Amino acid sequence: MVSKYDYSVTPGDRLGRPLAMELAALFSSAYGKWSRKSPVNPGGRIRLGAGYYLANYANPLFRVATCRAGSRLIAQAVYLECDTPRGKVSLVVQLVVDAEFRRQGVATTLLHAIWGFSDFYAWGIVTSSPCTVEALEAATFRRCNAGLISRRAAFVAREVLARVPFLASAPWRTVGSSSAVDSKFFTDRSAKPVARRRVERRLGRLAEGEEWLALTFRDQDLDLEDAYSQIVGCSGRFVAEAYRRQPQARQKWAAKAGEEMDNLLRWLPAVGKDTPVCDFGAGTGRHVAELRRRGFEHVEGIDFAATGDGVSHADCRSWKSQRRFGLILCLYDVVGSFADDRANLAILKNIARHLRKDGFAAISVANAGFSGLRGTSVDSKNRRALIKSIFRLAPSRMMATTGEFLSAKSVLRNRSKGLFYHKEQFFGGSGLPGEYLVVDRRYTAGEIEALVEKAGLRIVMRRFVRSGFSKDLSEGDGKEILVIANKVTTRRTKCR
Ligand SMILES: C[S@@+](CC[C@H](N)C(=O)[O-])C[C@H]1O[C@@H](n2cnc3c(N)ncnc32)[C@H](O)[C@@H]1O
Repeated sequence: MVSKYDYSVTPGDRLGRPLAMELAALFSSAYGKWSRKSPVNPGGRIRLGAGYYLANYANPLFRVATCRAGSRLIAQAVYLECDTPRGKVSLVVQLVVDAEFRRQGVATTLLHAIWGFSDFYAWGIVTSSPCTVEALEAATFRRCNAGLISRRAAFVAREVLARVPFLASAPWRTVGSSSAVDSKFFTDRSAKPVARRRVERRLGRLAEGEEWLALTFRDQDLDLEDAYSQIVGCSGRFVAEAYRRQPQARQKWAAKAGEEMDNLLRWLPAVGKDTPVCDFGAGTGRHVAELRRRGFEHVEGIDFAATGDGVSHADCRSWKSQRRFGLILCLYDVVGSFADDRANLAILKNIARHLRKDGFAAISVANAGFSGLRGTSVDSKNRRALIKSIFRLAPSRMMATTGEFLSAKSVLRNRSKGLFYHKEQFFGGSGLPGEYLVVDRRYTAGEIEALVEKAGLRIVMRRFVRSGFSKDLSEGDGKEILVIANKVTTRRTKCR
């Protein structure tokens, strides 16, 4: 998923006057109007100055997530993110989206980045907008519950409210079925009456000048059906994003492009410098660079996440070219990026479509039989068990660091479907912080052979390998299964 907008996060202690001025300008033009009953400026536009941001949020407890179209600031979310004795808490204290850019998922992207970390203790927002309360519930798969919030009132007051300047001394009604703070924010409440009534049932009616203090907690019951469709059903959406953020070039598995090309070219004597080559899911383009270095005349790569020299941005399932290739590479788990094997098959079929009659494809996939694999087993036919296990799963930083997939605590495996679930957290670098549920398909030799053949290719070689491809390993030792195939329509062509 490559966005047309640029997202980033600025820690509060790096909030300088230029950004504060931009935040104030966007807020003042886009936030909305005071209600007619407001003691200040009734019916007038709500405005803030740069000084407000600097006085209240220029400290390390706060962060500002922003979205820009080019250089223009189009959305902002200011939030508290702090450590507490029970774990981290993130509380959004301001959310503004420029009217021209609403209904494009910008607010959802910002909020999901702020609330998306499954190992936090609590997530929340101070708002009078029922839709953002419901966004909190959707992002955290938990319903706001005023009773629960009031039972934790002492903790919330001490660890959360006391840290937010405009809430520290604001009266908070958290008895029985209400959680409302008297923030003296007299805004117009006429929009979204149906959603408002729904939220009122959970957090109580707001009096003039009040906002809801909406919170959900990690140890709360989960909305399981919602969670299933939203996180397991949509996990494919996150694959490209997780890959985009993976520092592939620095990881150990990606260190032997030269050795890999030595071996492939040895096995494929018909491939020469004049053979046109395409690398499907080329990543950083390391194999493209290696072949170019060896004098290959036409080498190109495609990838939907990374782009490098000679690699264009495209999806291997649907990319179309007039050119037909004598060698197509598809190495290191490009096939297997999707939980649904129809998507993995679509990559293979597109490879078959772009292969010359006498061409070869070299495909490597993650080996389900590798004995070094860890992980807690789960039966993914039982949705409730699956989703509960996903929620219990510790997030990992495997993709952001080593790329090695070995921790039992942070991998769930469904053997019968060959699926491995892991939550990947990313911080720093460009973009928003994020946690993604990534589902990898790992194959047995029989499964990948069957899928390759279903795509209209014929296997000419198959071996269990590790990076470099030099050794022909046993099933238990090989991290990858390497398959060389050609088109079914051709006469048998030679592969040594
Ligand atoms: C583990 S990396 C391997 C990269 C490269 N082949 C290498 O060996 O260095 C897998 C790559 O496949 C890409 N990928 C997965 N599915 C894809 C798709 N449908 N279209 C384009 N790229 C895809 C990812 O973005 C990622 O860069």
